[in-house]
Amino acid sequence: MKIAVAGTGYVGLVTGVALAHIGHHVTCVDIDEIKIKKMQEGISPIYEEGLEELMHLNKERLTYTTDYKKAYSKADVIFIGVGTPEKEDGSANLTYLYAVLDQIRESVTKDTVVVIKSTVPIGTNDEVEKYLNEKVSGLKISIVSNPEFLAQGTAVHDTLYATRIVVGVEDDYAKKIMTKLYKPLTKEPYNVPFLVMDRKSAEMVKYASNDFLALKISYINEIANFCEAIGADISLVTKGMSYDSRIGNKFLNPGIGYGGSCFPKDTKALHFLSKEYGCEMKTLKATIEINKNQKLVLINKLEKVFPNLHGLTIGVLGLTFKPGTDDLREAPSIDNIKYLLKQGVIIKAYDPIGIDNFKRILAMDKTLTNHLNNITYYNNIDDTITNTDAVMIMTEWKEIKEYSLENYIKLMKTPYIFDGRNCYSLDNINKYNLYYNSIGRKIIEKNIIK
Ligand SMILES: NC(=O)c1ccc[n+]([C@@H]2O[C@H](COP(=O)([O-])OP(=O)(O)OC[C@H]3O[C@@H](n4cnc5c(N)ncnc54)[C@H](O)[C@@H]3O)[C@@H](O)[C@H]2O)c1
Repeated sequence: MKIAVAGTGYVGLVTGVALAHIGHHVTCVDIDEIKIKKMQEGISPIYEEGLEELMHLNKERLTYTTDYKKAYSKADVIFIGVGTPEKEDGSANLTYLYAVLDQIRESVTKDTVVVIKSTVPIGTNDEVEKYLNEKVSGLKISIVSNPEFLAQGTAVHDTLYATRIVVGVEDDYAKKIMTKLYKPLTKEPYNVPFLVMDRKSAEMVKYASNDFLALKISYINEIANFCEAIGADISLVTKGMSYDSRIGNKFLNPGIGYGGSCFPKDTKALHFLSKEYGCEMKTLKATIEINKNQKLVLINKLEKVFPNLHGLTIGVLGLTFKPGTDDLREAPSIDNIKYLLKQGVIIKAYDPIGIDNFKRILAMDKTLTNHLNNITYYNNIDDTITNTDAVMIMTEWKEIKEYSLENYIKLMKTPYIFDGRNCYSLDNINKYNLYYNSIGRKIIEKNIIK
């Protein structure tokens, strides 16, 4: 089949490459010329394990272009994977989606199936169908909701070996095309379950799934905070919980809150929509509030030990919102580092792949202009923590989890570790003379002279 994909971000590019991998001819379209040029040279503009290799492997079936007219006019199916960020009131901003729809309206010359992969509020697909068919006379444009469930960091695997493909359709033609398009993924070796339903239900599956995961994170973070107050250990608590198969062992790691491009905006968007329909989801309201506070719990812990932060040198380990990605959107490190810089702290920051994106984000904040000289970036942990007064761990990168505890003692001025991701077991920590404050567990403090 001939496919066009609008948007070459984490969802669009991975979708396009995966569809080429199962035999389709795919044209990836973006408005960003720099990204397109990179891809034409065989370079992935985003970091996802295995993505660049798959781009090379399927290069005969992949084209990258900014020429949307040519791409959309030739395609049997057009996937849309552009961003749907949040507006100030929490609702979804559909500007990028409608810009693509206008480009499709200008371009199509035959019956076409348009598939919305972007996460959009329930009911959007119906509105899009009206919007497109009003202006495109004499042609049938079918709209399909096909929400994406990949997680950044494992996006390629999550697409080829998806937990499920959900397809929301309202006509038989679209159902037939989507069944044919995805057939290779429903067979060996992928065996992905293929679910067909109405469009509104498909749209809701996406929000209900993401928001449930966000709720699970906020719930366990609240339990962790309570464990600290009451003297229980969250690691033992979650272990005990996980034996119940109804609960499972995933998404039970406490930390400094969720970030990324999805959970924050998707919780807000569904909360906004539920209020509009007169059935406010109170679980989501609480999830959002808990997460906002959780992002700063490490600072609270730090300030209890160092009431005056001015002039301290702090090492920050990990900047991205989670390991395995270069994405910084809504990462807790941003709020934390901005706060510390404004308090007059000298920051030494480490991340294996997120530094360039982080620099761009800080540079956009004009209130930080006078503080940017106070942050230095490193590509190794040793240099980052040398001569620091304290270290804060923001992302559980493998490199950080495997880093020797002895080095903190050797290299820091005083080994004060504030771990927002519980990277180390307390049994291991107990072998060393250091201060260690993590999430939902007791503080370890042995032979520390401040
Ligand atoms: N990132 C994730 O983990 C994830 C997972 C599931 C669903 N989603 C959803 O998928 C959507 C896309 O997310 P993302 O993270 O891939 O976004 P992204 O910001 O990484 O990429 C969006 C891309 O669209 C391009 N674009 C904007 N307007 C365009 C146009 N008119 N034509 C062509 N390209 C255009 C941008 O230049 C950018 O490259 C969002 O709705 C998101 O909620 C994301």
